[in-house]
Amino acid sequence: MTVVPFVSRADAAEHAVWLSALNEAAATRLPGVSVRPLTCLDAGARSETSVVIVADPDPGELARLPKLQWVQSLWAGVERLVAQLPDPSVAIVRMRDPELARTMAEAVLAWTLYLHRDMPAYRAQQKARIWRQLTVKQPGDVTVGVLGLGVLGRRSVQSLLANGFQVQGWSRSPVAIDGVACFAGQDGLHHVLAQADIVIVLLPLTPQTRGLIDHQAFSRLKPGASLINFARGPIIVEADLMVALDEGRLQHAVLDVFDREPLPQDHPYWIHPAVTVLPHISAPSNPATASRIAIDNVAHYLETGVIPDSVDRQKGY
Ligand SMILES: NC(=O)c1ccc[n+]([C@@H]2O[C@H](COP(=O)([O-])OP(=O)(O)OC[C@H]3O[C@@H](n4cnc5c(N)ncnc54)[C@H](OP(=O)(O)O)[C@@H]3O)[C@@H](O)[C@H]2O)c1
Repeated sequence: MTVVPFVSRADAAEHAVWLSALNEAAATRLPGVSVRPLTCLDAGARSETSVVIVADPDPGELARLPKLQWVQSLWAGVERLVAQLPDPSVAIVRMRDPELARTMAEAVLAWTLYLHRDMPAYRAQQKARIWRQLTVKQPGDVTVGVLGLGVLGRRSVQSLLANGFQVQGWSRSPVAIDGVACFAGQDGLHHVLAQADIVIVLLPLTPQTRGLIDHQAFSRLKPGASLINFARGPIIVEADLMVALDEGRLQHAVLDVFDREPLPQDHPYWIHPAVTVLPHISAPSNPATASRIAIDNVAHYLETGVIPDSVDRQKGY
């Protein structure tokens, strides 16, 4: 029986869910192979291990594998792995799952509609027993700016277009997407920030995107614009976001990701009337579909020796 190790700092319940899903996928695609916690392998097996499946692994555990060639992450965001596995000879393969993209597109649409149909305002009105009808805007009169046009951004753009919104997008390299005004570079970012009624952040966290949405970026926003961050907390400068909200330049922020998670109990976001706090839930990896993709990648590697497309260490994503 060949064993593929799994390394994760998930709690016992989540660990068990992943192990079960991975073994179910292996039973179909890789009979004779089982996925076990790395701790179950003896010293000899560890010294021969070339691939590991990971979900927030302890980097110390991976450092003790002399023949490690690549890791398959069950998550889409890999900034921590990039930082914690500095050896460029170990390839990092991130999760690219259409089901994850669908889930993110669903969250993007749900929270775009939440802002578009003034749900924060109606919630506040109900609390104060105020009966006031706000003007209903048409989606075609609303511009949504999507920062990041990768796997998740592109799928989200499609659901926004299908629901009638005007969509603009921004990415590192110029791209063309039907029905979307696409921009790149610093000027492109400024253009999208100035045009968008709702800005959605779907960028990876890299040295270039850390702190990207700062005081200067907020000052370029269209007055009354709102922001959704479903990517990573440190892309936005928290103190600058608070100032933009308090000065009324930013109308509302829907935040799913933060500098520190869980969000500390005394953080001002919790009680700010113009902030909606979500507990990093916009698009969790789906154990069944992600496991099938991970096992497929491992199977292809075991059959051919080919490591799947991996993170570009220079770009950091
Ligand atoms: N909150 C959650 O539950 C959750 C779940 C999953 C993922 N995420 C986050 O979502 C992020 C995006 O995922 P993805 O799969 O869509 O990533 P992806 O496929 O790698 O796409 C990244 C996009 O961002 C663009 N980009 C990167 N650096 C840039 C820069 N400096 N300036 C402008 N554009 C830049 C890329 O441009 P190019 O096309 O030119 O390379 C690409 O369009 C992940 O990294 C993760 O952190 C969050």
